[in-house]
Amino acid sequence: VILHEYERVGELEQQLKHALHIDDVIITPSEGSLMLKRLGFTAAKVVQRMVTDGSVVAVSGGSTMAAMADEMPSSVLHPIVVPARGGVGEVVEYQANVIASVLAERWHGSYKMLHLPDGLSKDSLDMLVTLEPQIKEISEVIHRTDILVFGIGQALHMADVRHIPDGVRQQLVDGNAVGEALGQYCSMDGSIVYATNNIGLSLRDIVNIPHVVAVAGGFDKAGAIISVMRSCKKGILIIDDQAAEGMRQLL
Ligand code: G3H
Repeated sequence: VILHEYERVGELEQQLKHALHIDDVIITPSEGSLMLKRLGFTAAKVVQRMVTDGSVVAVSGGSTMAAMADEMPSSVLHPIVVPARGGVGEVVEYQANVIASVLAERWHGSYKMLHLPDGLSKDSLDMLVTLEPQIKEISEVIHRTDILVFGIGQALHMADVRHIPDGVRQQLVDGNAVGEALGQYCSMDGSIVYATNNIGLSLRDIVNIPHVVAVAGGFDKAGAIISVMRSCKKGILIIDDQAAEGMRQLL
């Protein structure tokens, strides 16, 4: 169903916003293979309006965030851009560090990278933050984030992409994990089933962040988006009309 043809978009945006108790929902047309480009374009417009001189902008990894960075127009805003959390074993273009550097270049700002693999033990991470001044510094900047932008993935797909150990994968299956964002795996009611150890931001930090933008598209992500936004409980959600239709059916 192409919702835009039926002029029901505004109504559905309101319906989803109220059902998820978040600040706003924006639905873009899917347009087949152009879906990510359209999502990225809309997200870029929304985020760019929030950035001011000296803002700290944190961004997650993934193809959706890469599309947003790609669509970001050049402007002189001078923010500090950081990855929201440590790197993941994805292709370079989709790593949060790289996306942060692209955004900083578009905005004539600066960036800081966090060179840490996923899945380090909590003890190792605590030790690094205590002993390594560089890690301590970026961790402090990340926790001053004014604007957080993140993508949402399907829990088991993300677990596979990140080569999560079998025991943890089983924990996700047993806990009915549906969606993933910022290394947190959520079930349909928004509970966090599993969280990867991480120096950066998690869904629990969102309450302290002034501006939050989540971006995701595709019918298959409908459940994942609901689970993550029920955990997030605030922010602007930017989705395509296929995801929106899937969510309408599930809510
Ligand atoms: O954590 C979620 C993923 O980064 C989303 O990745 O935008 O490539 O689907 P994606």
